Amino acid sequence: EFHGHLEKSIRPYIDLIDTLRSFGIHKDLALPTIAVIGDQSSGKSSVLEALSGIALPRGSGIVTRCPLELRLKKVTGGVSWKAFLSYRTKRIEFVDSSLVEGHVEKAQNELAGRGVGICDELITLEVMSPNVCDLTLIDLPGIARVPVKGQPEDIEKQIKSLIMKFIGKQETINMVVVPCNTDIATTEALKMAQEVDPEGKRTLAILTKPDLIDRGTEKNILHIVHNKVIPLRKGYIMVKCRGQQQIDEKISLEEAAQMERDFFQNHPFFRCLLQENKATIKGLAIKLTQNLVDHIKIQHLEKQIRDLTEQVDDLENRGRRCNVRIVGLPEDTGGSNPLKFFEKWIPDYLHLDT
Ligand code: GDP
Ligand code: MG
Ligand code: NA
Repeated sequence: EFHGHLEKSIRPYIDLIDTLRSFGIHKDLALPTIAVIGDQSSGKSSVLEALSGIALPRGSGIVTRCPLELRLKKVTGGVSWKAFLSYRTKRIEFVDSSLVEGHVEKAQNELAGRGVGICDELITLEVMSPNVCDLTLIDLPGIARVPVKGQPEDIEKQIKSLIMKFIGKQETINMVVVPCNTDIATTEALKMAQEVDPEGKRTLAILTKPDLIDRGTEKNILHIVHNKVIPLRKGYIMVKCRGQQQIDEKISLEEAAQMERDFFQNHPFFRCLLQENKATIKGLAIKLTQNLVDHIKIQHLEKQIRDLTEQVDDLENRGRRCNVRIVGLPEDTGGSNPLKFFEKWIPDYLHLDT
């Protein structure tokens, strides 16, 4: 099974996101989304594909030209695979997973024109299947430095400002995809994520292509994964996806997952990452889902505290003394002052102006 016992505790929160979204509440309440960013050909689409089991448009050059929101919903009973693609006022339903690429391409052509232009209008792809995990991800155009024929001179600037729009939001978890065989410290996408999130509180780095690294660089890469070089609160995770040859050989995603596991188990340097939960697509899925749940829980706490603070202020303004107590809390965790409790226990997340 995909992520075993985690499933149960996570479901209600993920359902909450989608329920709120369906009521259009997301404009007021900051809901967590995971945005995927990286250079062109860093392996972004491969990671998304492996995570979701959904074949997205991919290839060399600029393929993702509009932001694509991928909402995955695990469903049981009845449905084996069903998707809705929406953009502007359109909503297309289909049940054949091989049609995803075609539908997304058609939508992109309508929004961004045929060719190599980009557009910041969102395309949403909702997929319901027993074989996906509950995640909502946003795929963004890859960073390209040199414009190709037909692209405006400032294409890099355009792509970066589009990316910034998404990763700048406090409620977004930024998944930065970086190939192991590049100079990780100078990666543009990582720099952008650091710009909007200097402490790395909502930035997670995915290191791809570990099978393509130069011999002798393994230890340096391990240092990075162990958070010793460019520290990120949410850390690093290494994944191995299908290379071009494996795609040409029609290696399935299931086979690729097994090969990924074998790769790490047999790797003299990276084997340790399995035990540390810092490797594989499956490990990434678990980590991402936990992050979403944390995000939502924290927001609920924040709202509860705000409401409580308002009530206290209101009572005191009317000349009434009050003593706030949270039922069920041991005295030694903050006694009658709930704010102290939360400040003490989750200082990383709560920033209360008191
Ligand atoms: P994107 O432009 O960031 O979406 O990158 P893609 O996902 O299209 O990947 C670019 C190329 O790298 C493709 O040919 C992939 O097959 C290949 N690739 C992605 N991940 C890996 C990996 O872990 N190992 C190897 N060897 N190739 C990979
Ligand atoms: Mg891509
Ligand atoms: Na590509």
